[in-house]
Amino acid sequence: MKILFIGDVIGEPGRRCLASWLPRIKQEHQPTFILVNAENAAGGFGLTPEIAQELFKLGADVLTSGNHIWDKKQIYGFLDKEARLLRPANYPDAVPGKGWGVFEVTAGGPKLGVINLEGRVYMHTLRDPFTLARELIQTIKVQTPLILVDFHAEVTSEKRALGWYLDGLATAVIGTHTHVQTADEEILPQGTAYLTDAGMTGGRNSVIGIEKEEALHRFLTQMPTRFTPAPDRPWLNGVIIEADPATGRATGIQRLQCS
Ligand SMILES: [Fe+2]
Repeated sequence: MKILFIGDVIGEPGRRCLASWLPRIKQEHQPTFILVNAENAAGGFGLTPEIAQELFKLGADVLTSGNHIWDKKQIYGFLDKEARLLRPANYPDAVPGKGWGVFEVTAGGPKLGVINLEGRVYMHTLRDPFTLARELIQTIKVQTPLILVDFHAEVTSEKRALGWYLDGLATAVIGTHTHVQTADEEILPQGTAYLTDAGMTGGRNSVIGIEKEEALHRFLTQMPTRFTPAPDRPWLNGVIIEADPATGRATGIQRLQCS
């Protein structure tokens, strides 16, 4: 059983890159589940219902997100309607949407629990993602041992710490948000596949997916700057996790960088 996880899709260039690579990746790896972090898929910030539908049509089974999910207001109502789109689970209950779900792509096939969490270091002051992750895993375990956590966080230490905290409890802990793929993929001793950051899907001639001149303008002047997704040298970043559906333990992890 394979889970394909694709790192943050940045705007139209990222969506085009995903559309061109996904059929080839599917053919080669035959993933059972396809997960895409989509928080920046609309213009580089946020997501719209139309673009979420476009990503489902391309082959995504579940969309995860992060702090930018709130950038486009039209997604709020959609978050309440569409169970396949997740926002981080550690926001207050009053916000739209849900932070986890159990998904079955083929009738009678394996079920995958997906948990989306946001870090707290240099980010929002949210509910403790560590304690909540273990609580949600206990809830999901009744339905399936296969559980993937998308931990949308800024610092490597917080992501690494959650990996250890969930070793043997989750099938995989995959980091997102920093848009630079890390090379530390491994299977932790108790069977959890771990990667600090899956990277991004978008233009490589950029600063984390945004036109480099605009990012530099912000750094050089400290003035507000309009950011646009960069189209040049697109690449798809992601990771493939192999797991035993009977135990939920990971048996393989492989990073993907397609350009
Ligand atoms: Fe983010």
